[in-house]
Amino acid sequence: MEHIKIFDKTFKPYIRHDEIMEAIDKVAEKINNDFRNSSETPVILCVLNGSIVFTAELMQRLDFQCQLASIKLKSYSGTQSTGCVQTAMGLTCDVKGRTVIVVEDIVDTGGTIVKLDSILKEAGAARIKICTLLFKPDSYDKDIAIDYVAKEIPNAFIVGFGLDYDELGRGLKDIYVIDEE
Ligand code: IMP
Repeated sequence: MEHIKIFDKTFKPYIRHDEIMEAIDKVAEKINNDFRNSSETPVILCVLNGSIVFTAELMQRLDFQCQLASIKLKSYSGTQSTGCVQTAMGLTCDVKGRTVIVVEDIVDTGGTIVKLDSILKEAGAARIKICTLLFKPDSYDKDIAIDYVAKEIPNAFIVGFGLDYDELGRGLKDIYVIDEE
């Protein structure tokens, strides 16, 4: 794995693809343990665009019946959270009375999670569970529980495996961290 450059920034290797796969195996097992004996069909809510790659990997590991839906939110500009979360595309299915498992690529300040929670409650979801590939605990300052975390990371800007820097870098198989040096 080599350093990469996207626009003005250099990124160095951070989490290898096989390590990401192991973390997804583990988080999928936790979700399976909670849902495989349940009679309901949860909605797996992919938060576009960043979660596409993680959602695809996660769904292949789930061994209970579930329905895929998506929503598109936007809060980041460049390498900073703007604090203002906008809905770019609404929920693609009716979640009234349903259990929804939100699938996020990364939970940073938590602004996106708060917005999702209110959208889902407003739409009548019966139960909301949050699953994220990556979690920045030092940045998160909200009260909503993050039920399933594949991997915790410190506060640093990363790209790859679905995550972008100004829309580039999402297709990288590994995760890279910004190289400040
Ligand atoms: P939050 O609302 O501050 O929790 O930010 C959540 C969203 O910001 C994520 O879904 C990502 O789209 C984006 N984001 C947060 N941290 C990073 C990062 O390190 N790299 C790329 N995108 C990020």
